[in-house]
Amino acid sequence: MAKKILILNGSPKKDGNTSIMADWFSTAVRSKGAEVEIVRTAFLKYKTLGCISCRKCQESDRYECCIDDDAKPVLTKMAEADAIVFATLLYFFGASAQLKLIFDRMFSLYKWDNDAGTMQTPLKGKTMVLLASAFEDIGLDALEKPFVLTAEYTDMKFESILVANAGVSGEISKKRPDSKEKIEKLAMKIC
Ligand SMILES: Cc1cc2nc3c(=O)[nH]c(=O)nc-3n(C[C@H](O)[C@H](O)[C@H](O)COP(=O)(O)O)c2cc1C
Repeated sequence: MAKKILILNGSPKKDGNTSIMADWFSTAVRSKGAEVEIVRTAFLKYKTLGCISCRKCQESDRYECCIDDDAKPVLTKMAEADAIVFATLLYFFGASAQLKLIFDRMFSLYKWDNDAGTMQTPLKGKTMVLLASAFEDIGLDALEKPFVLTAEYTDMKFESILVANAGVSGEISKKRPDSKEKIEKLAMKIC
């Protein structure tokens, strides 16, 4: 069966380095027969500024966020995908806020039973991929850490391509042409 791959592109730039990385990945997995969707998280319409910690999602058996906005169907797609790819640029040593807004809404894809000390999630066993770039060569390890910890916590496989010295928006093809091959290799591995 074709692998389902969901790419969450957290850059506000349509033709920037993040979008280029997401496109390289998407073209490669599609050539292997995967079903791919790219969601530009900066252009989703939200009713709230991120997760509002209402915890209503924890009162129902369904893995869905109670805030009925553009994030809701994307979260459903995350639960159905074989691999979730987070693509972001480095914003002051972390991921972009535009990606973090939806990342925190993943809270609704976990069910905790604090008395029993258990957690269940449909994300378990899936693959998480991080694609990130930065202008300089400091800070991508800091950006990566929350993704690594979340993948470990969730029992997901984790892969990343971190591209330092990628230049300003759109320069990655010129400044780090080697990154295309790395992304294509990873895409083949995922499929
Ligand atoms: C608000 C902002 C903060 C940034 N912070 C950093 C940073 O801390 N370190 C760094 O190396 N590059 C930083 N950059 C540069 C971008 O991460 C880098 O150029 C990236 O490849 C651009 O991706 P894009 O084309 O998808 O926007 C920053 C850029 C912006 C706009």
